[in-house]
Amino acid sequence: MYAVIRTSRLAEATVTLGFNKFTREAPVLIVVIRERANLFSALGGWMQHKEFSVYDVGIAVSHFCLQAAELGLGTCIIGLFDQKKIKKLLQIETKKEVALVLSLGYTDAPVREKKRKPLEEISRWY
Ligand SMILES: Cc1cc2nc3c(=O)[nH]c(=O)nc-3n(C[C@H](O)[C@H](O)[C@H](O)COP(=O)(O)O)c2cc1C
Repeated sequence: MYAVIRTSRLAEATVTLGFNKFTREAPVLIVVIRERANLFSALGGWMQHKEFSVYDVGIAVSHFCLQAAELGLGTCIIGLFDQKKIKKLLQIETKKEVALVLSLGYTDAPVREKKRKPLEEISRWY
């Protein structure tokens, strides 16, 4: 995971189809890089028909966002961006992949009210 001080070019690489314009205001953008699995993980993934590193990215990113919130910072997980542009800008090796971008900064925007499905609807007891 690389922390990157915002450059306008990086922010522009996240503006997609009119989405993510807010990144232009974000003081910090973090680019999360997914690396190729090591042999053990690749073997496990092949046996399970899964790409375990994708789960790792999700775990790392969610913990990052939770810790940021704990410190009074706001984040947004950004999945819409120009992969090629960011790789070129940050000179990321071809075999690595930009998995996600996170915006980070202090915010005075209130956390909007969450609509959550009831637990019974999304879980079952056996
Ligand atoms: C993998 C992933 C990619 C996302 N990509 C974007 C994005 O490109 N732009 C955006 O505004 N929100 C994106 N979101 C949504 C926000 O990160 C955030 O989850 C959303 O605003 C809802 O947050 P909330 O349920 O905490 O209010 C993405 C979320 C996830 C999990």
